[in-house]
Amino acid sequence: MLSRNMTNNLHLLIEQHLKMWGKQNLTAMDGTLGNGYDLEFLHSQEQVSTLYGFDIQQQALDNSREKIVSSTKEVHLILDSHHHLEQYIEGEIDLAVFNLGYLPGADKGVVTHTETTLEALQKVMDKLSDGGLLAVMTYPGHEEGRNEHEHIETFLQSYHVREFSILHLNVMNVKKPCPNCFLILRKK
Ligand SMILES: C[S@@+](CC[C@H](N)C(=O)[O-])C[C@H]1O[C@@H](n2cnc3c(N)ncnc32)[C@H](O)[C@@H]1O
Repeated sequence: MLSRNMTNNLHLLIEQHLKMWGKQNLTAMDGTLGNGYDLEFLHSQEQVSTLYGFDIQQQALDNSREKIVSSTKEVHLILDSHHHLEQYIEGEIDLAVFNLGYLPGADKGVVTHTETTLEALQKVMDKLSDGGLLAVMTYPGHEEGRNEHEHIETFLQSYHVREFSILHLNVMNVKKPCPNCFLILRKK
């Protein structure tokens, strides 16, 4: 069931997409590990066989490793910025999640930056397989997040509908801006 929580909605939609797509042995990427909830979710999807997770904070890698203690999948947790992803991922990406902003409970100064975020998103979109999905959560509720959100919106509008279907999810009937979600699907 859809909820007010954008992350829950995002996970539901990804799950549904994977079921309908039917492709197996997927390569998935979490661009911002944080507390590891998105990684845990990606890891729980039976279609996913290889996972790459990035963060620039060791704490995020430790949090994430705790979430997937036993695994039969190939999991790479990488202490580096997501905009260097091509140094670690050779082939196509089937599924990617970028949950932007800062790590809750940690230093709010360590936050995603528009320039490197856009570079990383462009690289993921170049590597996205046919039918593949990129999901981006933005946080326009604070100034830096709003700036990043607006740049991402403009960047995504530049892609032609022949190549990608791009959905924008937002909770409209609230006073303070909520997390927004962009779902970017490469057409088959
Ligand atoms: C909102 S949190 C991610 C939440 C996470 N996906 C989860 O499920 O808990 C944002 C994370 O992005 C990380 N981050 C900031 N800049 C980054 C960069 N250039 N590359 C990778 N991670 C980055 C932060 O360290 C922080 O852990």
